[in-house]
Amino acid sequence: MKLNLRTFSPKQKIKGAPILVRVDWNVPDAAVHGLEGSLKLERSVSFIKQLSKRGAVVILLTHFGRPKRKDKVHSTHFLAKRMKRYGLSIAFHPESVSRPDDRKRLAERLLKAKPGSIHLLENVRFEKGEEKNAISLSKAWSSLGDIFINDAFASCHRAHSSVVGIAKLIPSYAGPSLTEEVAHLGRLLEKPSSPFVAVIGGKKLSTKIPVVKELLARCDQVLVGGAMATPFLVAKKLQVGKSYLEKDSVADAGKLLKKTGLVLPIDVMVADKLVVNPKLKRVMVDAIGKKDIIVDIGPSTLAAWSKILGSSKTILWNGPVGWTECRPCGNGSRFLARIIATRAKGPAFGVSGGGDTLPILAETKTAKWFDFISTGGGAMLEFLSLKGKLPGLLALMK
Ligand code: 3PG
Repeated sequence: MKLNLRTFSPKQKIKGAPILVRVDWNVPDAAVHGLEGSLKLERSVSFIKQLSKRGAVVILLTHFGRPKRKDKVHSTHFLAKRMKRYGLSIAFHPESVSRPDDRKRLAERLLKAKPGSIHLLENVRFEKGEEKNAISLSKAWSSLGDIFINDAFASCHRAHSSVVGIAKLIPSYAGPSLTEEVAHLGRLLEKPSSPFVAVIGGKKLSTKIPVVKELLARCDQVLVGGAMATPFLVAKKLQVGKSYLEKDSVADAGKLLKKTGLVLPIDVMVADKLVVNPKLKRVMVDAIGKKDIIVDIGPSTLAAWSKILGSSKTILWNGPVGWTECRPCGNGSRFLARIIATRAKGPAFGVSGGGDTLPILAETKTAKWFDFISTGGGAMLEFLSLKGKLPGLLALMK
């Protein structure tokens, strides 16, 4: 599917114009220095600098976390300060646009703002109507800008006011980082070179069922690891001992088992307790004991998967295949990162993404060997399962 997005013309006159830019700076404080931080923050910097150089009044919007109510912990204030290290000087505005007095004050201040100045508003999720895509909230934000640019691919699966609502009210465009994501991930949807192999891990199968289904239709092989594999093993009538199991996903897993191309672990590493340095044992999947807890894929699985990946031409990886928090249990994921890195940017087109996968790429220093790392976790997977039709992208279509 070809996505025809409205992109922002560099020739457009913007001197003095207030431009609303939706970024995704949803980066935990601790991860600001990590790969997730550098991807999400760094990738938006040069565009913001460009707009500022051309004299626009840049008004940035982002969400941060999933706050239940307005609180200090979820304020975006710290992000304004953090962006200094990227050479951005940003004025922070704590006002709530839903409150008429606040909005008036904010609008007056922004009207007086100097061309080239950069502003960050408070966490969009502090506004009640954000997640409901409330028209009143979208109108309130749009009243502050002449143009809306969405450069937050990682948020495009959310039909929220700051992603979809504003885009429908004022001239709106896709930003460069968002466009780059769509171009790279689009390659996975449009005639990817075969064999196309996907590696999907993580904890919850329920959140990834649509994407696994779609990938089974598109890929030659889909390798499933991590706790996500447990419902499949149970559906195959195998014992999983005390392993994490999403019981509600067993029926769905059973249906997916009938599809061709699904590859499950043949052996696993198990522990008897989830502690920092557990005693590990390797067992075949048909010999998992009553007290065993699966914490990683085993060496025979790695060898088999390495062979499959070794002849692949397109690779997608999302989600760790083991319990990465405890060092030895993350070995499967670390090996996988290295195996994929040896094929990507070479004989295969290799893409990865997702908040839990990025720390593994950072730790193994393999990120630079991938053709593309997406800033999106949920957005990347939904882009694939919805064939590109994310609400945030549909709002920017020509
Ligand atoms: C992400 O980190 O995946 C995006 O910022 C979206 O965050 P959300 O899942 O809280 O909407």
